[in-house]
Amino acid sequence: MDKKSIVAGNWKMNKTQLEAKEFIKNLAPLIQSARASVYISPSFTALQESILAANNTNIIIGAQNMHDETDGAFTGEISGGMLKALGVEFVILGHSERRHVFHEDSSFINRKLIRALKDGLQPILCIGETQKEREEKKTEIVLEEQFLKGIQNLSKKDASNIIIAYEPVWAIGTGKTATSEIAEHVHSFIRKLVVKHLDKEISKNMHILYGGSVKPQNVEELMQQENIDGVLVGGASLDYKVFAQIINKA
Ligand code: PGA
Repeated sequence: MDKKSIVAGNWKMNKTQLEAKEFIKNLAPLIQSARASVYISPSFTALQESILAANNTNIIIGAQNMHDETDGAFTGEISGGMLKALGVEFVILGHSERRHVFHEDSSFINRKLIRALKDGLQPILCIGETQKEREEKKTEIVLEEQFLKGIQNLSKKDASNIIIAYEPVWAIGTGKTATSEIAEHVHSFIRKLVVKHLDKEISKNMHILYGGSVKPQNVEELMQQENIDGVLVGGASLDYKVFAQIINKA
């Protein structure tokens, strides 16, 4: 892997704004010499404090979700423009919890992705198969469909700005990590999808992250794989000392 790796933390529905501020203040000095780019996505309510706390550090702050419309009667929703105005730089889209718990379909995710790019936010598009789909040997079909629908109607230029995260649903929050061989096999398949549906140059530059029970104990082996360009970390990103270890090993 010759590009700079990315370690992204997805805090999900955890941490108040004060906890977020404290975390970033504690983390920043521990990762000053990290090789990886560091991304953190707090809850909406902690974004502003996090952006302020991350000022003058090497930490980039993003959101966990957004709506696809710019404004209007969408009670409880938040637009990409609102996030951009706060200073948010990236947004996680299509996370399996959004797909499976909140029933977001691929076309909604695609519309959000298009909007995020228009709003100047870098999308992290998550794709991944369930345990059942893996057992039924549908992993590649599912991933190709999620990828293709995700990037539908995007120009190649826009598509080259996205980050892909492969997150097998069976490995998220379960303690079961895909072995580095399984992850590498899937990542190389995703890289080929990028060549097939976009082009070779884009595929070379695109970051493909692995997510699902990443911890300090398995990050090095994952990062040694040719097609793993970084990790998306849930549970293990909630403790700043543990997250710092992951970042410094990536
Ligand atoms: P996990 O979550 O690291 O807790 O498995 C990963 C994710 O959902 O992004």
